[in-house]
Amino acid sequence: MCQSSSLPRFPAPPSTAVLSLILILSLTTLVAGWRPWPPSGNNRFNLSDYTYGDSKKYEGSSEFIKLKYHMGPVLTSNITVHTIWYGRWERNQKKIIREFINSISAVHSKSPSIAGWWRTVQLYTDQTGSNISNSVQLGQEKNDRFYSHGKSLTRLSVQSVIKSAITARTKPLPINPRSGLYLLLTSEDVFVQDFCTSVCGFHYFTFPSLVGYTLPYAWVGNSAKLCPGQCAYPFAVPAFIPNRKPFKSPNGDVGVDGMISVIGHELAELATNPLANAWYAGQDPSFPVEIADLCEGIYGTGGGGAYMGQVMDARDGATYNMNGIRRRFLVQWVWNHILNYCTGPNALDQ
Ligand SMILES: *[C@@H]1O[C@H](CO)[C@@H](O)[C@H](O)[C@H]1NC(C)=O
Ligand SMILES: *[C@@H]1O[C@H](CO)[C@@H](O)[C@H](O)[C@H]1NC(C)=O
Ligand SMILES: *[C@@H]1O[C@H](CO)[C@@H](O)[C@H](O)[C@H]1NC(C)=O
Repeated sequence: MCQSSSLPRFPAPPSTAVLSLILILSLTTLVAGWRPWPPSGNNRFNLSDYTYGDSKKYEGSSEFIKLKYHMGPVLTSNITVHTIWYGRWERNQKKIIREFINSISAVHSKSPSIAGWWRTVQLYTDQTGSNISNSVQLGQEKNDRFYSHGKSLTRLSVQSVIKSAITARTKPLPINPRSGLYLLLTSEDVFVQDFCTSVCGFHYFTFPSLVGYTLPYAWVGNSAKLCPGQCAYPFAVPAFIPNRKPFKSPNGDVGVDGMISVIGHELAELATNPLANAWYAGQDPSFPVEIADLCEGIYGTGGGGAYMGQVMDARDGATYNMNGIRRRFLVQWVWNHILNYCTGPNALDQ
């Protein structure tokens, strides 16, 4: 495998992803979600939005971004990720996702590693100066094989799925508002409100009136059937980009390999902004620009606009940028508020 800049990348117009994001966010009414990437006209923005500004070191860097701390809690205690597998999941799909989560704290993985990626997240602190925890562990899991709330979920029914999981008669998920995260993963035959058109995943917290507790959660969907070109890019390519071959995914499952980066995005944001009152840019907490939003589409040095940056080729031709315990993954970078740019463990120049 080698550092590769010679792969046929999506042509990158000179642009600034960050300024575009502000534009995007001023046009959208969604909170805390990974948007389909690359953007298309039907997301209410398009490639020509990416053609102004060119003075940055690289796209994910800007002195205009004022990521601020809004005094709320961040996840400083050991983080436990409780997973809900909604719908039909294959054993191997679960293994890939479990290994990704386990890799976050696997500090001895080969560099550049997922654990190295999480080190940027650990730079964030709360009012007391406590850093985000370096310990992220898999918690209990719940299978919701029979689609307890149907094959089309709304933002509110997502919370009902979590409620069902914590109140189940057999093996309920533990209730852990202090350091538990609830990760709802929907199989490829499940539609979730705004999936594909404006989000690939989102995070928020549950409402006591609905669920009984305030629990930080994220939803990420398997887009393999519904919209891989939107939510599993670059392992699938949307129709509006002709003549472009998808990259080979590192674990042989386009939908799940595409979910990995979305899960990483949501976990990084949950850790730094679990109750939507801690780390975000922008004035309005209902349109927060969070640490992963600022770096969406950036996977390596030089990334930004439509160019994902320098990533690596595995011997089998798969594209990745970080090592887990045994597997390889492609995970987007996150914002470093000390350096004021997006960083990742595979950076060439930091
Ligand atoms: C893309 O944006 C440009 C400029 O903002 C606009 O003129 C054009 O019509 C847009 N295209 C689509 C497909 O929305
Ligand atoms: C904790 O955060 C501070 C401030 O960002 C940073 O300087 C320090 O390196 C962080 N510690 C760890 C262990 O990441
Ligand atoms: C947190 O995790 C670390 C290692 O991951 C472990 O050594 C420590 O005992 C844990 N602390 C608590 C309070 O569970």
